[in-house]
Amino acid sequence: MRILLIGNGGREHAIARSLYNGSPSDMLYAIPGNPGISQYCECIKINPLDFKALCNFVSMNKVGLVIIGPEVPICNGLTDYLLELGVKVFAPREKASLLESSKKFTKEIALENNIPTAAAKSFNVYAESIEYLKKMQPPYVIKADGLAAGKGVFICDSFLEAQTAVHDIFDGRFGLNQSVLIEEFLDGEGISCFAISDGENILPLMGAQDHKRLLDGDKGPNTGGMGAYCPPPILTKKLENKIINLILEPTLSGLKKRDISYTGVLFAGLMSRDGEPSLIEYNIRFGDPETQALLMLLKSNFTELVLDTVNVNLKNHKIQWHDKKSLTIVLANKGYPLEYNIDSSITGIEDAEANKNIKVFHAGTSIVNGELIATGGRVLNVTSTANTIQEARDQAYEAVDKITYKDKFYRKDIAWRGIQSE
Ligand code: AMP
Ligand code: GLY
Repeated sequence: MRILLIGNGGREHAIARSLYNGSPSDMLYAIPGNPGISQYCECIKINPLDFKALCNFVSMNKVGLVIIGPEVPICNGLTDYLLELGVKVFAPREKASLLESSKKFTKEIALENNIPTAAAKSFNVYAESIEYLKKMQPPYVIKADGLAAGKGVFICDSFLEAQTAVHDIFDGRFGLNQSVLIEEFLDGEGISCFAISDGENILPLMGAQDHKRLLDGDKGPNTGGMGAYCPPPILTKKLENKIINLILEPTLSGLKKRDISYTGVLFAGLMSRDGEPSLIEYNIRFGDPETQALLMLLKSNFTELVLDTVNVNLKNHKIQWHDKKSLTIVLANKGYPLEYNIDSSITGIEDAEANKNIKVFHAGTSIVNGELIATGGRVLNVTSTANTIQEARDQAYEAVDKITYKDKFYRKDIAWRGIQSE
């Protein structure tokens, strides 16, 4: 079969590797891909948001299955376009993607289906949101309603900070016409929970914990994610069952009541306190960088998992995991998530991968004049697998030291919570 992967980040590099291992005889394409992905896929220079060019490519090349990595093409309706062509698509339709593209929509689904979540109120007018804020106590939780690449959430200790966040959102920092959500602050420990739905059945995958803040000690601004590890010790079988029964299943049945079927990855961002989970947000795709750690632990065949999803056969799918721990450290460019340098050459990846338990995924790299260059905010993802989280972390930081480029920046404390409770 001919399989097309959409995306160009570390998540897609990890997916490409798993597809290649799961079906080495299939023809794999990536749009647009990156230098790491090109090891497994033929990379095609088409803009993933140019749906016409993309659909032409799919038809001309008789692609049978498309896997969409990032949220923007999914939320812009790429799945619907592709399904019209009769191609199988591993990603939800535009209507279902509202779970990620509108926090207000997710709150409605949660309320209608008694799903535990933080209380929230949505505003379209600056003055009204500030009046409401005045009645709240810190910490204030301010969110842009729509897509913001993981950067549109502000947890503010002071009223002034909260006011600035509201101002910036209405001022268009995350795109025009964003409304603002002011949410109750939930105390507890964050967990990322991944499941796959084929429209009829739900298959939980392994959970993960990521580090969204830029700086050590979970400080600084929110980013797309600076590292992740799995499985998190906090995610016990009991907690996982509660998440499935109280959050994931009611969400899918709530969508069904609105005549929306869900195919693809459902990624729930949760807060757990005293063993009770609460929904913070949904994403409608694999997490980045959680997927890099997660897929290293998948023992069963990834391509078969994707095919069983698009063929509505998950109830017969037997998923298997390695009994190991996995961890990924994001190597970023200093200045990310704001301005950063994009022309430094990278060395040392082969050296880092000399340890067979290390895999370096490319996130923001390009080949320029035959040289590998750091061109993204998040550049590489050093992923390590071992028997314990501590061992995985020690190995990963050893590998990180072998990689060099100007302005390399990374957190030094990835998985600190996991190690504390291991
Ligand atoms: P999100 O992008 O919605 O996952 O939010 C980013 C991070 O902000 C989450 O992983 C949490 O750590 C934190 N966060 C979001 N919403 C809340 C909330 N209501 N209470 C406490 N922390 C939150
Ligand atoms: N790492 C969080 C995300 O992918 O949204």
